[in-house]
Amino acid sequence: MALVVVVVFVIPSRHSTTALSESPSLAQGAGDTVKMSAETRQCIACHQEKGITAAAIRDWKRSTHAVNEVGCEKCHLPAADAAEVIRKTASACKDPRVRSKVSARNCTFLS
Ligand code: HEC
Ligand code: HEC
Repeated sequence: MALVVVVVFVIPSRHSTTALSESPSLAQGAGDTVKMSAETRQCIACHQEKGITAAAIRDWKRSTHAVNEVGCEKCHLPAADAAEVIRKTASACKDPRVRSKVSARNCTFLS
């Protein structure tokens, strides 16, 4: 009886982002496997229905932010102490709370 030895070489990728986009759950794409908040789900649902911002959604789904459940709302709804120019400048989005410019003040989700 023949004994077959299979040797698998695991080649480490140079960048963690490469590893991430190659991980099966995310590479198969499309984020059906990405956990997301109800809020993020709504952002994506409407944008997909209208056929807009597909690249932004795809990039998010493949990002470390998605893995860590940092949804769209964590960045695009301005923090209360965000710069006035951001808080007061409405975006074109149908959700009136949304801002296209993102404030560094929103980064408190990290703490
Ligand atoms: C970690 C923060 C962060 C998260 C999470 C995030 N965004 Fe963004 N997004 C940004 C920043 C920063 C910009 C660039 C803003 C600027 O031009 O000043 C941006 C730009 C955009 C733009 C305009 C640029 C373009 O490609 O047309 C859209 C649309 C957008 N985001 C949608 C989304 C959606 C939808 C989600 C969730 C699926 C999301 N973003 C999640 C930070 C974020
Ligand atoms: C009911 C539909 C709907 C929902 C819900 C929605 N959007 Fe939008 N959003 C739009 C449409 C339509 C546009 C494009 C407007 C245009 O360019 O004329 C847009 C544009 C944007 C832009 C670009 C704005 C600009 O001025 O360039 C961002 C960023 C964005 N949406 C983020 C979000 C985020 C984050 C959420 C969830 C918190 C969200 N959207 C929920 C419909 C929606």
